[in-house]
Amino acid sequence: MADKSAKLRINDQDYELPILSPTQGPDVLDIRKLYGQADVFTYDPGFTSTASCDSTITFIDGDKGELWYRGYPIEQLASQSNYLEVCYLLLYGELPTTAQMEDFRTRVTRHTMVHEQMHNFFRGFRRDAHPMATMVGVVGAMSAFYHDSTDIGDSWQREVASIRLIAKLPTIAAMAYKYSIGQPFVYPDNELDYASNFLNMCFSVPAEKYKVDPALARAMDRIFTLHADHEQNASTSTVRLAGSSGANPFACIAAGIACLWGPAHGGANQACLEMLREIGTVDRIPEFIARAKDKEDPFRLMGFGHRVYKNFDPRAKVMKESADEVLDLLGVGDNPTLQVAKELERIALEDEYFVSKKLYPNVDFYSGIILEAMGFPTSMFTPIFALSRTVGWIAQWKEMIGDPQNKIGRPRQLYVGSDKRDYVDFSKR
Ligand code: SDX
Repeated sequence: MADKSAKLRINDQDYELPILSPTQGPDVLDIRKLYGQADVFTYDPGFTSTASCDSTITFIDGDKGELWYRGYPIEQLASQSNYLEVCYLLLYGELPTTAQMEDFRTRVTRHTMVHEQMHNFFRGFRRDAHPMATMVGVVGAMSAFYHDSTDIGDSWQREVASIRLIAKLPTIAAMAYKYSIGQPFVYPDNELDYASNFLNMCFSVPAEKYKVDPALARAMDRIFTLHADHEQNASTSTVRLAGSSGANPFACIAAGIACLWGPAHGGANQACLEMLREIGTVDRIPEFIARAKDKEDPFRLMGFGHRVYKNFDPRAKVMKESADEVLDLLGVGDNPTLQVAKELERIALEDEYFVSKKLYPNVDFYSGIILEAMGFPTSMFTPIFALSRTVGWIAQWKEMIGDPQNKIGRPRQLYVGSDKRDYVDFSKR
């Protein structure tokens, strides 16, 4: 892929670095040989200008606000596909035929239950434990139950682990929710589609009949699709780095869940809704906008800004449509939180500070409003993000494992600590 190169002069020595060209997006400077040739590292905290791998899975254009899964624009997938078909696309690279889709659906459906002994795990947690804490623990512990799918060198075991994770994450997330509210676990119902099954496991109780509203199931499925993958974000990079050491897939996904939990990443949907509630009414918005601009105040508008999208987040646009549909359906179109969200978005997008820093609503801005309207507590917002993103993490993990260039990730550093010095005895300090 290198038909161009860049010249670099260091200490009067010239070096030629290959330039690699992508299908879409910026060229990359191949620095793999730089340290060996010039004895210098590159320096890029937060990896804002560094490509960690090559990938065929997801493409983002931050300036144009574009997001493609395997080349298909997210807007088309959100309106014409469904989450399980998107899982197939992300895992295998092509849209499935009818037969392939039915086989995939059957394989996932047949793995939705968890080992019965795993129920005991939940009872070891406090009832008020955050569901993300429970999910990190239980998903990591899957490697203690599914030994026959932990050998990453066996492609069949990788496949089984992938299916198990996609199938069981909704069950585990629902169990974490039920445990936190003191209700009995609800088993998966294999007659239901993926999103309806999740809603049923969360909201049905043995004491009465529960029918999933198809419109809410469609909105839930769309939320899953919008969160399915997002190239090399923090949690995906965590999964890749964990996987590069040869760790088993369950441990890698547990690491991804832990990273996603942070409020700067997947925890932003919970933080965003809590912020909207704290704002409370439209007339208090200017006070919070002022705080977001104040360099002395660590406060940030949660649900705004993005490392890559320096225009709109295409997922936020689709999510905004869903928010209107779901709230109208539930008869809460005048939801005060939604009113504050829409007015905050309008004001922020006119404000010079946000416009100059290209801070637009991201995927987390509207998702929390929809999830709250559906009846989820804010503590369940990030677990739902985690179960949606599991397929993306797995697809990226499988791509890395299958990459012949794959080696253990080991960044270097700019050491600015003390120079070499001798130990000083207590008596001389
Ligand atoms: C996700 O990477 C992914 O793809 C993630 C994700 C995915 O699908 O995996 O898209 C999911 O994590 C979405 C992001 C959710 N996070 C939030 O909503 C939290 C609020 N947003 C910020 O924390 C922030 O915008 C980040 C972390 C998302 C991005 O930060 P950057 O790109 O590192 O930018 P920065 O922190 O360097 O900020 C640039 C400037 C700064 O001002 P200056 O120092 O230049 O004067 O913009 C300001 C920041 O102070 N700024 C904000 C702001 N975000 C950035 N000011 C107010 N409110 C904000 N939200």
